[in-house]
Amino acid sequence: MYMSRSLTLPCGAELPNRLCKAAMTEGVADERLRATDRHAELYGQWSDGGAGLLLTGNVMIDRRVLERPGNVAIDRSSPPDDTARAALRRWAQAGTRGGNHLWMQISHAGRQSPRYVTGEPLAPSEVGLKILGNYARPRALRDEEIRDFIERFAFAAEVARDSGFTGVQVHAAHGYLLSSFLSPETNRRTDEWGGSLENRARMLLETVRAIRRTVGPDFPIAVKLNSDDFRKGGFSHEDCLQVVELLNAEGIDLLEISGGTYEQPRLLGFEGQEASVDPNTRESTRKREAYFIDYAQSIRRIATMPLMVTGGFRTPAFVEEVLAAGHCDVVGLGRPMTTDMDLPKRWLAGEEAPAIRHEQRLKLSDRRWLSGASPIFFFKILNIFGAQAWYYQQLQRIAAGRGADMKMGLLGAFLRYQLDELSTAWRVRRAAKR
Ligand SMILES: Cc1cc2nc3c(=O)[nH]c(=O)nc-3n(C[C@H](O)[C@H](O)[C@H](O)COP(=O)(O)O)c2cc1C
Repeated sequence: MYMSRSLTLPCGAELPNRLCKAAMTEGVADERLRATDRHAELYGQWSDGGAGLLLTGNVMIDRRVLERPGNVAIDRSSPPDDTARAALRRWAQAGTRGGNHLWMQISHAGRQSPRYVTGEPLAPSEVGLKILGNYARPRALRDEEIRDFIERFAFAAEVARDSGFTGVQVHAAHGYLLSSFLSPETNRRTDEWGGSLENRARMLLETVRAIRRTVGPDFPIAVKLNSDDFRKGGFSHEDCLQVVELLNAEGIDLLEISGGTYEQPRLLGFEGQEASVDPNTRESTRKREAYFIDYAQSIRRIATMPLMVTGGFRTPAFVEEVLAAGHCDVVGLGRPMTTDMDLPKRWLAGEEAPAIRHEQRLKLSDRRWLSGASPIFFFKILNIFGAQAWYYQQLQRIAAGRGADMKMGLLGAFLRYQLDELSTAWRVRRAAKR
């Protein structure tokens, strides 16, 4: 079986197999944004579940601008105390107990930080996100702040390494800060951080270099990158190919391909407004199980580093087909792993049953007009956020040792999630003032 083969990375580290639990934000940090025993519980279970690689959810480098109020932050401006470092060590220990790798995904939310976290998101330019009024208009970063953020990424990577995480992944996809620097739609700067693609990619490349300088040559560094933002005037697939060429020179160990942003949530197989892709050209992709495979194939032709693709993989037969064809080296699994912690182990043992396809039933409504044109974008967004809330609630249950609840309703999950987020945001703000 191809999925059970090990993979030696350019830095010399070895992944025991080709299955990865993709990054999924956990939302179980304490009010000081420190890891907790719930992280250890969750990742201990995943580590027992057989994947060769576990990626953590977003760990933020800036405690002011979070992706969610329950994120862990490793922020150089207020370095982790002994309690925070001990919790990170417990997390890393539990998450590697199965002999797998555990890489910390380090990230800055950029303009995609909700209003209940911050009234001042930070971004390359002042281009706001228009989703139900939930995101404040961002402030454009100053040159010295960008340079500081690059060092913060490196600091977080160093803390990850010192705590026992076996690698890091730089999150440069899905519209967060580094991704928004890459996009001409959101990056309107005229200094050395904007304009040409080389300038827009500068922050990502400098970040990778700073991390490598800090962690040394034998520590895995991965990058998660969009194959396309699927936005008119945004980061295109052609841009992506050029960034891959630039990354070829940086000695990264794994490139993960995803796609889309909050406004165009293709990462989850949804289409938002203003899709920029000709529907005919990617028809084959739509029909297939994993929706970024066609993109990965064109990236594969030029990429010199190992490649991972995430999004839509649900059958072991298709995973085998993709690996056997050499379209990628590692396959990422997200949503199925929110309830089936040991799916990789079962597939590696030869089980042929597909993963559960939560996405096919988790909808507030199936009516066609809800998934149609932009006037009902509101309902479509509700469908997407409702399903996300369901996954978040499952992860929180498992982290609390309560197990998944397959009978959980979507609307209830959505409402509970909103309440949880607001109350967590309030506790985080109160703790920050103390
Ligand atoms: C609940 C949930 C949380 C997620 N959090 C993150 C995250 O923190 N970082 C990230 O890069 N992607 C995140 N994603 C995207 C996944 O890593 C993955 O790209 C996506 O779910 C598609 O894979 P799948 O079809 O196997 O679910 C998240 C997805 C879900 C469902």
